[in-house]
Amino acid sequence: MNKPVLIVDKLTRSFETAAERLLILDELDLVVPEKNRIVILGESGCGKSTLLNIIGGLENPGSGSITAGPFKVDRLDEAGLAQYRGTFVGLVFQFHYLLKDFTAVENVMLPAFMQGVKKREALERAKQLLCDVKLEHRMDHYPAQLSGGERQRAAVARALINQPSLVLADEPTGNLDPANSDTVMDLLFSVISDYGSTLIMVTHDQNTASRADSAYRLVNGKLVLQ
Ligand SMILES: Nc1ncnc2c1ncn2[C@@H]1O[C@H](COP(=O)(O)OP(=O)(O)O)[C@@H](O)[C@H]1O
Ligand SMILES: [Mg+2]
Repeated sequence: MNKPVLIVDKLTRSFETAAERLLILDELDLVVPEKNRIVILGESGCGKSTLLNIIGGLENPGSGSITAGPFKVDRLDEAGLAQYRGTFVGLVFQFHYLLKDFTAVENVMLPAFMQGVKKREALERAKQLLCDVKLEHRMDHYPAQLSGGERQRAAVARALINQPSLVLADEPTGNLDPANSDTVMDLLFSVISDYGSTLIMVTHDQNTASRADSAYRLVNGKLVLQ
């Protein structure tokens, strides 16, 4: 087995509302070996996005520990979290979050700029990634000029631009029809393996779950192997 790239240990997260305390993640454990493709399934509202957001350094972990490569994610301050998100993690969401005033290739380059990569190299990487997701003919299109599936493919390319060890995808095809969804999934799996990244993906798609190295179901705040 490859060495672990992510170790989540006894992660507990609850939300306080006026009426009650919702226990969403309950001493959840997860170990993900390098280069594995992990799928997480579960009912709507069970805490899948909360888990992914915590792993990605976007949400407060509550209690427990998260170790991702050299990063002790639960102990990082804001600057450490920004570095972790910028260098170690690539994120793909259900909505593409492409900036509307930038072309596809500019959107893909942007996170590399933010890490201080020179324009020429950022452009080379972005073009290569857009070829990898079969958008070589759409580089200079604005998001509004792309189809839903094309936007998600651009979002996949953008997630890979800083060569992240860990790619987190939260229902990346949740807004797409089955044919576009299959295309995005195929391209996502293929770039993940080309770039040697590890993938953790939330999806409802059983077909995709069967292609993963491991599929888990989030039930009562814990992950159960499918
Ligand atoms: N900031 C918050 N305050 C209170 N409840 C929240 C908050 N964020 C999420 N929740 C609740 O936590 C549960 C899990 O949400 P989420 O992780 O988005 O579920 P999933 O992605 O599995 O659909 C839901 O019941 C949701 O309403
Ligand atoms: Mg969700």
